[in-house]
Amino acid sequence: MTESSPYVRITEPSGARPSRRDFLYIATAAMGTVGVAATIVPMVAQLEPDKATLAAGGPVELDLSKMQPGQQVIVRWRDHPIFVVNRPAAALKTLQSPKLLERLADPQSDEMQQPTYAQNWHRSANPNYGVFVGICTHLGCIPLYYPDPSASEPATDWLGGYFCPCHGSKYDLAGRVFSGVPAPYNLPVPPYRFVNDHMIRIGENPPNSHFDFASIRQI
Ligand code: FES
Repeated sequence: MTESSPYVRITEPSGARPSRRDFLYIATAAMGTVGVAATIVPMVAQLEPDKATLAAGGPVELDLSKMQPGQQVIVRWRDHPIFVVNRPAAALKTLQSPKLLERLADPQSDEMQQPTYAQNWHRSANPNYGVFVGICTHLGCIPLYYPDPSASEPATDWLGGYFCPCHGSKYDLAGRVFSGVPAPYNLPVPPYRFVNDHMIRIGENPPNSHFDFASIRQI
């Protein structure tokens, strides 16, 4: 895998301060953050899709078994950055907290920004893993990952989630947008399914589901 490989990027484990490294390619991270890379690189080697698959916009698989709690991997699917985040138990508890819900614009995901199988409190097929299109619904920037609810950045009342620095939109760790920010909708959820307990296939619905990604309200 070379530095120019476009397929998989990582973000720092929970609690780490995000930086430009959030969006460096995995091979670069292998040089700079040995501990993280040692975990992720074998997975990437297995999962890098071939160029024909990517060119056709076909499904991309990701092995979740080596992801640590709080860690996020970014996969490219149809030229979109797809955030895949391993959400620890504390984060799942926060996602159900009234203190958070009262601050969200669409806490029940009423807007069709996700398949029906992700129209629930965790916006996913499995609460332990969030899968989102990492494109801000305001003007299309890539939000930064700030998982630590005790951090003083990017806001003093932060509960963990995503922050879009260009105009200040905020999302929680289910990709739900906060009220009073420029972004109007929750982060989109792409079609995906669990192939087995630890492998997801992004770009493919579960059996008997017919979600069409083109029907998403806004990307
Ligand atoms: S593009 Fe995200 S806040 Fe403007």
